[in-house]
Amino acid sequence: MTELSLDTWLNDLPLLDFYREISPPRRYDTDEGAYDAQYGIDETMVREGLGAVNLLRHHGYDFRGTALEIGCGTGRLSLGLARSSAFEHLLLTDCSPSFLKITARKIGRVDAGRVDYATLMGEDLGRFPPGSLSAVLLNAALHHVVDVDKFLADISRALAPGGFIVFLEPCTGMLTMGMLAHVAVQTHNGAMSPEQCARFQAMADCMTFYHRRDIDKANSEDKHLFNPHEMIVWSRRHDIEMDFYPNAHFAAFHNGMIPKDRVFNFTLYFRNHLKYCMNFDDELLALYDTHVAPFAAYMDVAAQGGGGPFMEGVFIGRKAGSPA
Ligand SMILES: C[S@@+](CC[C@H](N)C(=O)[O-])C[C@H]1O[C@@H](n2cnc3c(N)ncnc32)[C@H](O)[C@@H]1O
Repeated sequence: MTELSLDTWLNDLPLLDFYREISPPRRYDTDEGAYDAQYGIDETMVREGLGAVNLLRHHGYDFRGTALEIGCGTGRLSLGLARSSAFEHLLLTDCSPSFLKITARKIGRVDAGRVDYATLMGEDLGRFPPGSLSAVLLNAALHHVVDVDKFLADISRALAPGGFIVFLEPCTGMLTMGMLAHVAVQTHNGAMSPEQCARFQAMADCMTFYHRRDIDKANSEDKHLFNPHEMIVWSRRHDIEMDFYPNAHFAAFHNGMIPKDRVFNFTLYFRNHLKYCMNFDDELLALYDTHVAPFAAYMDVAAQGGGGPFMEGVFIGRKAGSPA
């Protein structure tokens, strides 16, 4: 399938305002503007997309054809992808039109390459013309998709031979944070109020929920923690050879490649997770510093010399075959 046929397909879809409708629009579970403020997604985030560009280049991607971003949110990754001007054609998508509007406003006009927008649920990837994409990118969006195996099958079908999939996702190492939060609640000895205990326990319960595989997650926003080894095996079933950079964000690659065994600060990672993802205020963070961080420091010692639990990481896979 050529680039022209993807264009023909896109042009046949409803055009609303500035974006095509591949999937019916769906709002995020929190206010989109508040999400942008919570994570502070500003111009400094340009490093995320530039990092992804470096990573793709390092792995041999030639930037021809259409690269699709799924779940672009407020542009954390998209900003740098668009500003790099490296891509021939970028298709930035999200299920939420409000997210698309925020991202499009941040990106504005680009110097080179074409940027289009569309509403898309990851579950609808199977609607793309086969072989019509040269790359698919996601930043913290795959864990929202219920059936990951089907998603990988759809990706493989939509990618041209030699095409790339690259994504950052949370991994099973996050369960270590949940366990420590749970232990803190059990052993607080009166140092925390019932409300404060409930906040720590809610964090622990989130991790349990994401990790469990025996419950229906269709109606929850966040769904999974990934096991890197399993992801490599699943991808291989769909002709995708996957590589993994543990405990890395895309921004880590913006000045070049990073070693896979670089040292990782668990205590700080845990604190930042509570602050940004769980909205802990200074009072709750002080409780973390006093009652949890001394135990979390165990992991920093254990991770000396590299390694450590895989909290998240960047996956990059290549579909079998050579590009045309
Ligand atoms: C955690 S946010 C990440 C947003 C952005 N990529 C970032 O890094 O800030 C997840 C994004 O995925 C989108 N999303 C949720 N469910 C999705 C699905 N089933 N398919 C595609 N995108 C989805 C949400 O609207 C949201 O923008």
